[in-house]
Amino acid sequence: MINLNLKNIAPSYIREILSVATHNDMISFAGGLPDPNSFPLELMKESFQELSQLPEFFQYNSTRGLEGLIESIGKRFDIKKDRSLIITNGSQQGLDLIARAFIAPGDQVLVEAPSYLGALQVFKLAGAQLKTIPILDNGPDLDALKNCFERQKIKFFYVIPDYQNPTGYCYPLVLRKAIAQLCRQYGVMIIEDSPYRELGFKGEKLALISDFFPEGSIVLHSFSKIVSPGLRIGCVESTSKIVNSLIKLKQISDLHSNIPSQFILQKLIEHRGFELHIQQVRQNYYDKYRLLVGELEKELANEISFKPVQGGMFIWLSFRDPEINTMEFAKKALTKKLAVVPGSVFYLNGSNNQNSLRLNFSHPTLANIKKGVHHFAQTVRIYSKVN
Ligand SMILES: Cc1ncc(COP(=O)(O)O)c(C=O)c1O
Repeated sequence: MINLNLKNIAPSYIREILSVATHNDMISFAGGLPDPNSFPLELMKESFQELSQLPEFFQYNSTRGLEGLIESIGKRFDIKKDRSLIITNGSQQGLDLIARAFIAPGDQVLVEAPSYLGALQVFKLAGAQLKTIPILDNGPDLDALKNCFERQKIKFFYVIPDYQNPTGYCYPLVLRKAIAQLCRQYGVMIIEDSPYRELGFKGEKLALISDFFPEGSIVLHSFSKIVSPGLRIGCVESTSKIVNSLIKLKQISDLHSNIPSQFILQKLIEHRGFELHIQQVRQNYYDKYRLLVGELEKELANEISFKPVQGGMFIWLSFRDPEINTMEFAKKALTKKLAVVPGSVFYLNGSNNQNSLRLNFSHPTLANIKKGVHHFAQTVRIYSKVN
């Protein structure tokens, strides 16, 4: 008796391709994985040892999260005093809790097109009626947004303004303000998902959309991209009323998040080397990004186009030849031991945008980026000859 919504969710193309992409001889631009060499293991070493003397951190604890961690997050990430926090198992659990707490079957949720697949699946499972708003070069199309709010009864707008997944775009301040204003005007709640926020190449951070409509917004933060996804720690920030509902639900769901992970993260955030660690991650990704775009321009300037990004982990690339179908292209690339994700998987019905794809630059090594672009170019040539 499988839940019908679950039955209708197709297995994630990315998860499937990732299982192939981790084979040793494969070069992958596919997943959204951080560079494992960037995990701050040295900085965490002392607290790993300390933990072995602290049985209290292996006991049941508060559902909201470790008090010390919540305090450190509040300080380091400038969370306003009147906001409340709950620690979750990554931002993915935050999305799940929000959907289960506040989305009833048939509720309309607006998402960007393209958007993060993991969120689309959560909303679908909750029975949401999903609507889409196209992303232009700078972010969501404002006229379309207004139009949509006028015509439909949208309950939530799910948006990723910082180095968006999958496009890598970072929405300018004026757009953020305008989105918040429209949401306020039409009574639409904002779910702002921001796991890439700290990854601006130059460390710059614009105000969140939610800063302009705090009482109508829920913000998701994650430590997966700046520390390690395996720790599974993220948090949800909102009004205390909303966070209290999430706490109630999380208690029913899993009592609380892993306490040793929370302890390790708290100590890391308080470590004097933490800022330098984040700067090093940014520099590492900037170097990889520059190499990727440099190689692409060298090998494929006439065949592709993409908008430069200022941070994050992805670029969104389109072929100039509209006949190139990136789903077919991705299959061909696999035969060249190269994994990429076709753009269509980031769209609701999967059918739009047949000639774009997402490339990840955080995970492959510099040497593999160079080699991977070469394989990419070879695949383009084979593809163009055959078709
Ligand atoms: C936009 C977005 N939201 C949420 C997540 C989930 O991240 P976490 O590891 O914090 O659960 C991801 C992961 O790639 C993501 O890209």
